[in-house]
Amino acid sequence: MSSRIIPVQPFDYVVFGATGDLTKRKLIPALYHRFRDGQFDERSRIIGVSRTELSDEDFRGLARDAVGEFVKPDYRDEGVIERFVSCFSYIANDVGDRDGWAELEASLRQDPEIVRAFYLAVAPNLFGPICSYLDEKGYWRRDARVVVEKPLGTDLTSSIEINDAISDVFAEDQVYRIDHYLGKETVQNLLALRFGNILFEPIWDAAHIDHVQITVSEDVGAGTRGYYDESGALRDMVQNHLMQLLCLVAMEPPASDDANALRDEKLKVLRSLKPITGEMVSKCTVRGQYRGGAVNGGSVPSYQDELPEDKKGSRTETFVAIKAEVENWRWSGVPFYLRTGKRLASRVSEIVIQFRSIPHSIFDHAEGAPRPNSLVIRLQPDEGVKLFLMIKDPGPGGMRLREVPLNLSFAETFTERTPEAYERLLLDVIRGNQTLFMRRDELEAAWRWIDPIRAAWDASSDAPQPYTSGTWGPTGSVALIERDGRTWHEADD
Ligand code: BG6
Repeated sequence: MSSRIIPVQPFDYVVFGATGDLTKRKLIPALYHRFRDGQFDERSRIIGVSRTELSDEDFRGLARDAVGEFVKPDYRDEGVIERFVSCFSYIANDVGDRDGWAELEASLRQDPEIVRAFYLAVAPNLFGPICSYLDEKGYWRRDARVVVEKPLGTDLTSSIEINDAISDVFAEDQVYRIDHYLGKETVQNLLALRFGNILFEPIWDAAHIDHVQITVSEDVGAGTRGYYDESGALRDMVQNHLMQLLCLVAMEPPASDDANALRDEKLKVLRSLKPITGEMVSKCTVRGQYRGGAVNGGSVPSYQDELPEDKKGSRTETFVAIKAEVENWRWSGVPFYLRTGKRLASRVSEIVIQFRSIPHSIFDHAEGAPRPNSLVIRLQPDEGVKLFLMIKDPGPGGMRLREVPLNLSFAETFTERTPEAYERLLLDVIRGNQTLFMRRDELEAAWRWIDPIRAAWDASSDAPQPYTSGTWGPTGSVALIERDGRTWHEADD
């Protein structure tokens, strides 16, 4: 990495749900990379807690396997892996079994210089009990941190319950709610692009921008994840990832990069979103569910075919498109089109800022009408930024205009490995930096906007519109934007 590696204070990271998928796929590989880069060393400990009976050595084996499976070979180094896994220890503990907690007590170091963090990689109904045991047992310290993941509720009411249970024990400045999109390098780059350059901010408003598109498409299916059928794309992706992206695009410049300064601005955006309620829901939202089809050259089953017998007939949406509006001075009249779905044509996350047409063209029509500029921020894959500009088509033949992208490809410009979102987020917890984590009021404002959409869908007799796997979603999504005389940006442009 080209950025400086600043070692963090030694820590005790207690991971509840230590044998789960998230720990293996994301947390261990992320910590490994930070260890390998020298950001922490053997003075830190990762203490796994889960119900499964494992020894310390078994848990180290699990960590070794996770590195073997989820870290690319170029970065695997036997010596480093052995030093890394020596940081790991394990406690078999059922949250409900009070005796098991004594072992945790013995594992935690009392030195105030050792940062204490609890990562709750468990179902949200366990957040409350775990927090209250931590409190009861005195593991709570004013400087301890607690990290929680989505789903943080299924609606506003349940989200309030979960947050109340956490805040009965921990103060808001101790709570780190993860939205892993905020940890992505390219998402942070959005801040650099907007607030590190003079170019964009003066034209970042309704006078110059026609509309904004935010697409997060996946080619994978929902698979057999039981959670997904309960959740659906609106709760799984829109309520958190897409709305956070919208906030970063639409917010006012914060006075500093202080966590609360930034989160205050995001909150204002969420509170300015025009509510989509009642009849508006069918005009401004589209939901879909995939049928079988072909993705990346292979045939795939429909969502229904993937479901277990008792879930067949499910009306869970695997695709959502929404026309959102931010009702404030800067954005009045500028639609934000959001879309996300599973089993779409390809995996692409991008933000398109479509500028307005020039007010007057000096070129005669035969020369090719100037097309409005657009800025395409590609979050993944092929991370980069393209600014589409009009130039003169080179060569003889008079003045003909042509659109070309000014192309900043991160892969071509930077040779270093791009860190995964969790690498940044896990260590921000240790650094005590909450900038890239969601504050409670943000989360609740997002649910407040989402709930009426969900309620209208639930009340409607319409099923989600079917779409063929490997396409860009249901025809309703195309109609949503084309009704306004606009089109979705082709992700391959
Ligand atoms: C998760 C969702 O939050 O984000 C998944 O629960 C989704 O359904 C994933 O696949 C997408 O993340 P990424 O980083 O692969 O874009």
